[in-house]
Amino acid sequence: MKQLYLRSRSLKRLFSSLSPSGISKKGSTETSIDSGKAEPAVKPAPKPTWRCFSYEEIHKATNGFHQDNLVGTGGYAEVYRGELENGQVIAVKRLTRAGNDEQKEKEFLTELGTVGHVRHPNITALLGCCIDQDLHLIFEFSSRGSVSSNLHSTQLSHEESRCTAGTNSPPMEWKLRYKIALGTARGLHYLHKGCQRRIIHRDIKTSNVLLSDSFEPQISDFGLAKWLPTEWNHRAVAPIEGTFGCLAPEYFTHGIVDEKTDVFAFGVFILEMISGRKPVDGSHKSLLSWARPYLNDGKLEMLVDARLGEDYDINQLKRLTFIASLCVRANAAWRPSMTEVITDYLLFFIQKK
Ligand SMILES: Nc1ncnc2c1ncn2[C@@H]1O[C@H](COP(=O)(O)OP(=O)(O)O)[C@@H](O)[C@H]1O
Ligand SMILES: [Mg+2]
Repeated sequence: MKQLYLRSRSLKRLFSSLSPSGISKKGSTETSIDSGKAEPAVKPAPKPTWRCFSYEEIHKATNGFHQDNLVGTGGYAEVYRGELENGQVIAVKRLTRAGNDEQKEKEFLTELGTVGHVRHPNITALLGCCIDQDLHLIFEFSSRGSVSSNLHSTQLSHEESRCTAGTNSPPMEWKLRYKIALGTARGLHYLHKGCQRRIIHRDIKTSNVLLSDSFEPQISDFGLAKWLPTEWNHRAVAPIEGTFGCLAPEYFTHGIVDEKTDVFAFGVFILEMISGRKPVDGSHKSLLSWARPYLNDGKLEMLVDARLGEDYDINQLKRLTFIASLCVRANAAWRPSMTEVITDYLLFFIQKK
């Protein structure tokens, strides 16, 4: 089998540190992430739990990357469902982005270096990678597909419909929308505060949050993620990548990235969950500019997905719209942190009940 030619020093270093069984000898691959430049680790990282897969293994699992197993196509990758010999169901993400190999390697390393070091029920679990033939990341399979494909189920593509109930499925019920908002907030809070280093996801949106068997949301797609050293308030990045309609103003105009970039996108995410409207659609009006007048005037019921009728909890609606209005504030300093979102606004109300 052809071994992919490894161009960047980071990738060579990462794979030279892996023993044949795929487990890191040093117990850490922390220095080989992101821009390819070594950054000192804050504390010793826990041993990565992922391993290297052979190309034969993933080829067999996906039935030769058969089109019937294609479950998703994003901006950077094709994702296939696969089944290992032991019966475990996996998702194989094959990086497809056109462009130079170095750029592809950078995205591969970014995702591997971030999601490979995190463990949380609301983050998709990385099982390993394969660098034969192409660059592949292997994840636990999220059987219910993405939040986006469930929320906008009437607009399902052929591939997405494999993961969800079908084109005529009823609208996602309110209780599930609330559960997804809460779980996603927990996952984001963990990325910002709970793991080795601060991780900014940079592309929080409904197609990057997947659903487990029990509809637990799992943040995925760390292709644009950034580490933030403790001593830095923020970092400036170029080019500005992400999803139009979810980008915070300071990031969109100056490339400034910090936790508040994700907080802003989380605000848009909540508005999408409430309204069932996409951040941008064909109407030339973003979800945010449509929602702002209703938020400002307190006409909260106008924001609710019309398909739900009266089937929503008014107190939860008030809570979510309040959080969303804080998260999408133009000035980043006025947005809450995810800790505040969780403890002051979400858990506070749950405990009070
Ligand atoms: N672990 C997984 N389980 C099930 N489906 C997945 C998984 N990972 C990705 N997908 C599907 O593939 C799509 C694209 O994956 P993503 O990682 O977002 O790629 P991209 O970087 O190209 O956006 C997702 O929106 C989802 O539908
Ligand atoms: Mg994606």
